[in-house]
Amino acid sequence: MSERKRILTGIRPTGALHLGHYAGALENWIRLQREYECYFLIADYQVSDYSDDISRVRESVWEVALDWLAVGLDPEGSHFVIESLVPEHAELTQWLGWFLPLGMLQRNPTLKAEMGEFGKKSVPVAFFNYPVMQVANILMPRAHLVPVGEDQLPHIELTREVARRFNRDFKEVFPEPEGLVGRVPRLVGIDGQAKMSKSLNNAIYLKDDADTVSQKVRAMFGGPPRAADEPGNPDENPILMYLEAFDPDVDEVANIREQYATKGIGNKVLKDRLNSVLDEMLEPIRDRRASYGSNMRRVRDALAAGSEAGRTIAIETMEMVHDALDLNYLEKY
Ligand code: TRP
Repeated sequence: MSERKRILTGIRPTGALHLGHYAGALENWIRLQREYECYFLIADYQVSDYSDDISRVRESVWEVALDWLAVGLDPEGSHFVIESLVPEHAELTQWLGWFLPLGMLQRNPTLKAEMGEFGKKSVPVAFFNYPVMQVANILMPRAHLVPVGEDQLPHIELTREVARRFNRDFKEVFPEPEGLVGRVPRLVGIDGQAKMSKSLNNAIYLKDDADTVSQKVRAMFGGPPRAADEPGNPDENPILMYLEAFDPDVDEVANIREQYATKGIGNKVLKDRLNSVLDEMLEPIRDRRASYGSNMRRVRDALAAGSEAGRTIAIETMEMVHDALDLNYLEKY
């Protein structure tokens, strides 16, 4: 087997990816993809909240794969895995569920918050169980590192706990994986809400064309009302936060911040700058997306090969699990 340490991380196929995904996670994936052996998972078992819109899931599998290719993840070096094409995930989830107290899920802050979003609608059993499957995802390739958005850290803590218990009670099978959060753990939405998300309709997508981006930037929330020559609090202005997140000229952004806080700068100036920063950043991403988009067979082949690789290591791990749990019944006689 490969000498490199392994990464497992994933995204749910619910739509195209946005700037929050990029700064919160994808950047790390891109940076680490040569140093680690990477399994990038499209977690299609974990979208039970879309059970009334399965066609969206089906389409989003391709959207996510295209976005990954567009930002420069390399399917030659890494594995793009469709979760349900590795049904061992379901099996491992089931075994792990034996050893996980209900209370550990009930206390999980991310799960709690997400279940709250169902409102009056009932929560599917599979949704309540999804953190267990996420644990199974991470343990499956016996991953060492899990680069994710900040909201996923409770699931990694759960994974570490499960790995420790399994190793202690049965056999040393799983490394205790570390989480790694991106440069910008939580990007605010263009409307200033705490989180950029599809459901809040406040996202700039990696695949948005130049006109769409410029419209969204023009409509961005620019902090509490203020005259252009009136100083403001930089941490209350999403436009400035985006410049700090994406403008490669870090020194200039520091100047702008200083000037904003002492003398004031009009939001129009900031928006114009942000618009060109984003355009420059997204242009090559759009180009790569278009090139893969015109050859979907290549995308399909990347998913097929990646899922095959995911399956190979899964079968290996499940043999170790069966052995550790001593479940090889038919080998008795
Ligand atoms: N739950 C993650 C999210 O909503 C996606 C995910 C599924 C994941 N399995 C994973 C992330 C394993 C990291 C590791 O974003």
